[in-house]
Amino acid sequence: SRLSRLPVPLLEWYRGNRRILPWREDPRPYRVWVSEIMLQQTRVEAVLPYYERFLRELPDIPALAAAPEEQLLKLWEGLGYYSRVRNLQKAARTVCEQYGGELPGDYEAVKALPGIGEYTAGAICSIAFGLPTPAVDGNVLRVVCRITGDETPVDSPALKRRCREELAPLYPEGAAGDFTQALMELGAMVCLPGGAPRCGECPAREFCAACASGDPERLPVKPPK
Ligand code: ADE
Repeated sequence: SRLSRLPVPLLEWYRGNRRILPWREDPRPYRVWVSEIMLQQTRVEAVLPYYERFLRELPDIPALAAAPEEQLLKLWEGLGYYSRVRNLQKAARTVCEQYGGELPGDYEAVKALPGIGEYTAGAICSIAFGLPTPAVDGNVLRVVCRITGDETPVDSPALKRRCREELAPLYPEGAAGDFTQALMELGAMVCLPGGAPRCGECPAREFCAACASGDPERLPVKPPK
């Protein structure tokens, strides 16, 4: 299939084009977890200063579990969506009580923690534990729909599930975190929404259905209103 041709050129592209980010340089589970919660509603550049300070003051899960509320709110002040940090602490307390203070390397267990849905669980488990668990958000959905020529409206719940099922078997051994983040990076830097895709720079251009059609921005199909 078209998608099965993606991993090799995508990883090669990622190795030459990836941004150096702190959770990529040192992807220990707690660090990846904190990064993914901050990145849920906040852009990478805005997250960076908060991220470094948060990890300096609360360097591990027990420290987060024990932190006074004022400290948490101060560390999060300016990021917004404070329920994220409240859930983060609630989850840290659960991890201390149920898993001895270390995040479990298991998709279902991670997804059951407060504040962690399918996307975030997939990101954490692939980046921190090397598991073949895709993280499919709007960007990754757009990449996959364009490569495969999938015309299913993007609001269809079956579409995300199908994307995850198509991506999971393509995860390269030993490069799960890179594959997840390469998909994110391609969606953020090259396979852009609207009339802006940069197909000339794309590692998938030779086998992408949307690129071959000459009208890549037709995909993904917006839901009928
Ligand atoms: N957005 C969400 N997760 C990310 C990650 N790991 N790297 C860059 N951007 C992201």
